[in-house]
Amino acid sequence: MQHEKFSWESGARSYSRSVPQIFSRAEGCHLYDRNGKKYLDFLCGAGTLLLGHNHPAIVSAIQGVSQPIMNNLDLRTEAEEKFANTLLPLLPFSCKTDEIRLHFCGPTGGDAVEAALKLAVIKTGRRGVFAFSGSYHGMGQGALSVSSSHHYRDVGLRVQADVTFLPYPYPYRFPEPYNTEAAATQFCLAHLEMLLEDDHSGVSLPAAIIIEPMQGEGGNIPAPPEFLKKLRAMCDKHGIVLILDEIQSGLGRCGEWFGCSGIVEPDIVCISKGIGGGFPMALIAFKQDMNVWHPADHIGTFRGQQYAMTAGQALLATIQNENLLANVKARHQQMSAALRDIAKDTALIGQVRGRGLYMGIEVDKNFENPGMVAKSIKVEMLARGIVMECGGRQGAVLRVLCPLNITSDIAQTFLEALHESIKTVEQNLPSAKTMAKAA
Ligand SMILES: Cc1ncc(COP(=O)(O)O)c(C=O)c1O
Repeated sequence: MQHEKFSWESGARSYSRSVPQIFSRAEGCHLYDRNGKKYLDFLCGAGTLLLGHNHPAIVSAIQGVSQPIMNNLDLRTEAEEKFANTLLPLLPFSCKTDEIRLHFCGPTGGDAVEAALKLAVIKTGRRGVFAFSGSYHGMGQGALSVSSSHHYRDVGLRVQADVTFLPYPYPYRFPEPYNTEAAATQFCLAHLEMLLEDDHSGVSLPAAIIIEPMQGEGGNIPAPPEFLKKLRAMCDKHGIVLILDEIQSGLGRCGEWFGCSGIVEPDIVCISKGIGGGFPMALIAFKQDMNVWHPADHIGTFRGQQYAMTAGQALLATIQNENLLANVKARHQQMSAALRDIAKDTALIGQVRGRGLYMGIEVDKNFENPGMVAKSIKVEMLARGIVMECGGRQGAVLRVLCPLNITSDIAQTFLEALHESIKTVEQNLPSAKTMAKAA
């Protein structure tokens, strides 16, 4: 089918290349294209729409604002007060809420990362940062400097910032004998420890270690809890600021309020994507002992998005009122069991992993081009009316990023379509073996 294309499109436009439909409206889990065709949205703005599209609680909160303040820089507002009072008790800090500080950033997640890196440098007086293979933290020069993808770095990075990349435990693609969770964890920790403690390591103590408790763009890879705990301990030992980027993993996506909840406390946590209830917002949160910067150390025009604060407050209240964390856990159980069964029924899938409604379905790494296989499955899904994305190494991971409030019926619809799509691709492959590197 020939799809329309806008003549003014930039060459850097990305998602619409494989999902070329022109959409005209949306409701709940569904998008509708301009021909009225309905699509199940399992991409949801890269996980931003935690309650799906146009949730009544968010719509009514926005409609309830009369004479809204459209922009207020960082002048104080009632909307901000209400939002902050709802968010503070949910943050992954064990201290009292009045010991937590929030800094609202420019409206993209990347600016929260820029702010966190800056604050760590100010706090420690050091300049270096440790980041991880598979990381993605945004497109600004600071956030890009700690993001690992060669593609993104090669096209846009102008500064060689003082960043050291460390391996992130990813047992599925680690070489033997490190291809189990325990061995991968041990290997990565030993590497880190040697860099920090060997006085001939060649690497100075960093200001910060930045990590996603569960990597998103890297391929939906959860960090083992043991790894995060030891990382925390090493940061404490060496006076390093631990920045947890929860931009994608936070706000219930992993089945807890944050990916780190119940595992470790950050020094700084970066929050964005879903926090504005679908409107742009980004912020960092930290304990008051980190609050060492000075007025205007991190500014920006659009830091006081009132609609985002109003919608974000409604979002947080709805997740609580509708007990959606329990729904995330229940849907995870349903879907991960079914996905593992599907994986057993095909030669295409190498691993199913993840937490909550943040799952990764990785095509067998032994294929010559696992990304092509994943893309073919995605195309079959779209033909069945389901929008989803691939990511991770070689684009080989089908990423589940659906709303937190999906029902078991919606999950079932997705699972059946996925099973069918995989089987169709499998039947149409020349043969699983001819595509495999080492059959
Ligand atoms: C973990 C993580 N950090 C940072 C970002 C950057 O956020 P934004 O695209 O809003 O700048 C993303 C975006 O996908 C992300 O997943």
